[in-house]
Amino acid sequence: MSPATSVATATHAGPPAEPVLTLRGISKTFGSVNALTSIDLDVGAGEVIAIVGDNGAGKSTLVKVLAGVHRPDSGEIMIGSRPVAITDPAAAISLGIATVFQDLALCENLNVVENLFLGRELGPARLDEVAMEVRAWELLRQLSARIPTVRIPVASLSGGQRQTVAIARSLLGEPRLIILDEPTAALGVAQTAEVLDLIERLRERGLAVVMISHNMEDVRAVADRVVVLRLGRNNGVFDVATVSAQDIVAAITGATDNAVTRRTVRRATHADQSTAHPEGVTRVTEHPEGVTRVTEHQEGGTP
Ligand SMILES: Nc1ncnc2c1ncn2[C@@H]1O[C@H](COP(=O)(O)OP(=O)(O)O)[C@@H](O)[C@H]1O
Ligand SMILES: [Mg+2]
Repeated sequence: MSPATSVATATHAGPPAEPVLTLRGISKTFGSVNALTSIDLDVGAGEVIAIVGDNGAGKSTLVKVLAGVHRPDSGEIMIGSRPVAITDPAAAISLGIATVFQDLALCENLNVVENLFLGRELGPARLDEVAMEVRAWELLRQLSARIPTVRIPVASLSGGQRQTVAIARSLLGEPRLIILDEPTAALGVAQTAEVLDLIERLRERGLAVVMISHNMEDVRAVADRVVVLRLGRNNGVFDVATVSAQDIVAAITGATDNAVTRRTVRRATHADQSTAHPEGVTRVTEHPEGVTRVTEHQEGGTP
């Protein structure tokens, strides 16, 4: 590790073998609010990356940048190895980025097939009902979805089934990257398990998956890596196989007041003496090392 390496890079396995999405130095302000400051992110094919962080950490803003809802003020976005501009939602889709927003945007009164194909009905001039239904079943079967019939209104489906329909719909555009905003937030235990299975199936299909979540159990159950945002900055990237829940929570809260984070801070201190960012400084300052933050965003870009 180079002297400039922080905890964030120390726990980082390095760029994925087959990069799908790479962000470098993405920043976004709203007036005087720094919603995102110099965000780096690497997502590879067949990887599930969880993005976690407290309210206001910048998660939704990051999703919206990737979905083409917001333009970043600065920074670079690459799809594969190609720098791209995600100018609007249509650009995101044509770049192979599908986003399932938290509200799912399903039409309650329409059935599953109608929801899947809303706005992109098959056939040049008319709806081909049979083809759409066949395609719907095909998709749901690939996802091993438990949906009894594709001709019932979405209103009568469970939360997990709705999430499945929303994900299936996003797959129709054959994306390389799928972004799920809080996919299990409204779900009970069984439905959560169903959606987590579904996410694993997306990974098996070789998709890159970015999942926003508040739920540490879900994150640890399904993600390969956890990216922590705090106050709009990268505050650690963790390998799920080796990180503890406490480590993640400490990075989320910025707390450095327990044994786990003291250890993390010591590791950080050995690796990086240059960790002071005015916006990122947290409350605790009494460590012998004098370091006030657990992790820092990565100076100097690529690890
Ligand atoms: N459209 C907007 N206009 C002004 N401020 C915004 C807007 N969207 C987000 N913010 C601010 O940016 C910061 C990050 O918000 P957000 O991305 O929604 O965080 P999270 O999703 O992690 O809770 C917050 O301070 C929020 O108030
Ligand atoms: Mg949000």
